[in-house]
This record gives sequence, structure tokens and C-alpha cells, in this order.
Amino acid sequence: MPPGNHLMSDAPTPAPAGSPDKKPREPKRVVSGMRPTGKLHLGHLHGAIKNWIAISQKAECFFFSADWHALTSDYADPSKIEANTRDMFADWIAAGLDPERSTLFIQSRVKQHAELYLLLGMIAPLGWLERVPTYKEQQENLREKDLNTHGFLGYPVLQTADVALYGADAVPVGQDQVSHLELAREIVRRFNFFYGNVDKGQKPVLVEPQPFLTEVPKIIGLDGRKMSKSYQNAIELGEDPVSARARLMKAVTDPARVRRTDPGNPEVCGIWYLHKAYSPPALQEQINAECRSAAIGCVDCKKKLLDNLIPELEKPRARRAERDQNPARLDELVQLGTKKAQTVAEATMQGVRDAMKLG
Ligand code: TRP
Ligand code: SF4
Repeated sequence: MPPGNHLMSDAPTPAPAGSPDKKPREPKRVVSGMRPTGKLHLGHLHGAIKNWIAISQKAECFFFSADWHALTSDYADPSKIEANTRDMFADWIAAGLDPERSTLFIQSRVKQHAELYLLLGMIAPLGWLERVPTYKEQQENLREKDLNTHGFLGYPVLQTADVALYGADAVPVGQDQVSHLELAREIVRRFNFFYGNVDKGQKPVLVEPQPFLTEVPKIIGLDGRKMSKSYQNAIELGEDPVSARARLMKAVTDPARVRRTDPGNPEVCGIWYLHKAYSPPALQEQINAECRSAAIGCVDCKKKLLDNLIPELEKPRARRAERDQNPARLDELVQLGTKKAQTVAEATMQGVRDAMKLG
């Protein structure tokens, strides 16, 4: 029975014998993308970009703007996507990602993503797609948008194409993307089963992507919810210090700490998680103890955080200003990156077309 033949069985496909799911410790080739939603905030920085920067010291990396993915929810108004892509690239670099070392490109400029997406769409069982947790969740969270579209359902199929095209052995993603990656592996296995002659001992046509998860510090928005641009509770990377200071001084802390004399619980406070990301360990220990004993008040606690946070916002701000002086250089790098991505993606597609007798 073909893997995941949903007419007969709804069970996920077991990994083929002889190819256990080993996680490579030292990835050689890495691919990851991000939807261009505008300026980056500290959630993106700690949740993804810092990982990208670390991994790009060791592996060959492809990082792209998932502008087609942005269209799955913003199809009615695509006017900001292009500018957002430039802003996003500029912020990646401002955060410290070296654009000469990693390959940066734009998804929609590499048409092979569309071709592989179409072909994978032929074999992706509807049941698998409907069961991805983010599918229903997002439809409920973004009620103001009609996400009852073919494109939105196909989001993870496009994501599968994104990673499979580069034969990457690792995909650095946040916890929220793990279900997408799992599905990508299922689809790739199903593809290899149909067209890969894996049973005849041949090398699979597409490489099963492995998620690459690392510990990331938790970052909470200024209102206590998940940090997100759409909640307006985010601190932007390189935000103007005056504004960052003012917004942070008004941020929600432990909601149970009503009076200065009430002991606090750092675990429920966003300021604490920022201390964990930005303050030296000795200060962290002090805050942790003094918050719990009410020896320190939230105002002082925030001021101490700002002493450590503001200089870290200044760095990307300065780099960003420098980059903005030379936008042509960024365009040039992205063009080069796109060419390189096209070459790699086309080589994969040749194998895919041959395997599917479309060559
Ligand atoms: N879904 C990802 C996000 O916005 C973006 C994305 C698209 C991606 N294709 C990808 C991430 C491939 C990793 C690999 O969060
Ligand atoms: Fe949060 Fe600091 Fe106040 Fe404790 S003292 S609740 S960690 S802001």
C-alpha cells in the first residue's frame, strides 16, 4: 500500500526500513524561511535569527523570504510584501547575519518552488493537511481574513517544496513549525515511495528534512501575550531607545503583584524573560531572589533591564543605518543569492521530473 493512502488508512507512514530518523548533529546544508511581515522584533531575533547566525558559521545556509507564503493570508492586499521583504533582509543583516556567507533569496523569484509545490500537491492527502494544528488554529485566530482557500490549505505543501528543493539535512525552525516539518517529511517519503524506486535500493529522489531545534529563550510581549507585530506588543530590533524605554516602563509585569510590597513571581513576567536574554547571570540571580522577596520593585527592575537592553538595540540600529546608505548592495546580494538558489533548485527539479517521467 502506498504510504498514507488515505482511502485505506489514515495512519502516518512509518520511516522506511534502513533509514532511521537520525538527527544529524552537524548539519551540512541548512534551509529556512520567514514570511515578510515587516520589521523584525525581539521574538524573531531570539526565536530564529540567532540560531540562523550560529548555524551559518558551520553549515552552508539558504535563507529566504517566503513571500508566496505571505500571500496565503495577505492575498487581498499584497502591497506591502515587497517592501517588507527588503526590510526583513536588512534586519537579518542588522542582527548580525552575514549575507556574504549565507545565501539570501526570495521564494517567488525561484519558480522551481511553484513547480515542486504543484507536483507535491498531487500526492499530498487532504486529510494530512486538514489535520495540521496551525490550519484550524489560524483560521480561528485570523477571523477577519477568509482563509478558506486552496492556497492556505496548501501552506505546508509549499513549505515542503521549499525545503526539499535544497536537499537540506536540517531546517532550523521554532517549536510552532514542527508540525509543518513533520508533514514535510511524510510528503517526501510518500514521494520517494511512488517515484524513488527506494525498494530497488536506489537513493531517494528527495531528502527527508529534519527539524533543527535548539533551546531558545522565551520572549513575551509587553502585554504578557506572545510577542507579535499584530498585537502591537513587540519591541522591534533596533527600535528607537526613547520609544523602547517608554513602552517598556509601561509593560505588564506579574499581574498578581499589585503593591510594591507584594512578592512577585518572575516566571509569569515578561520583564524577567528579557533579563534572562540580556542581563548578566549575577544580575539575573539577584532579580530572581529580590522579586520573590519584594526587595526590588518593578520600576527598578525594569530600569536595570534597560541598562542592558538598550545597548543591544543600538547595535542593530547602527548596522541598519549603515546598510540603508547602500540599498543597491543589498539588492545585488539578493540577486546573487537568487541565482545560486535557482541553480540548486533546478538540479533537484531535474531529478524530480525524471523520476515522474516528465523529463
Ligand atoms: N512557515 C514559516 C513561518 O513563517 C516560513 C517558511 C516557509 C519556512 N517555508 C519554510 C520555514 C521552509 C522553514 C522552512 O514561520
Ligand atoms: Fe517582573 Fe521584575 Fe516586577 Fe519581578 S520585579 S514582577 S521580574 S518586573
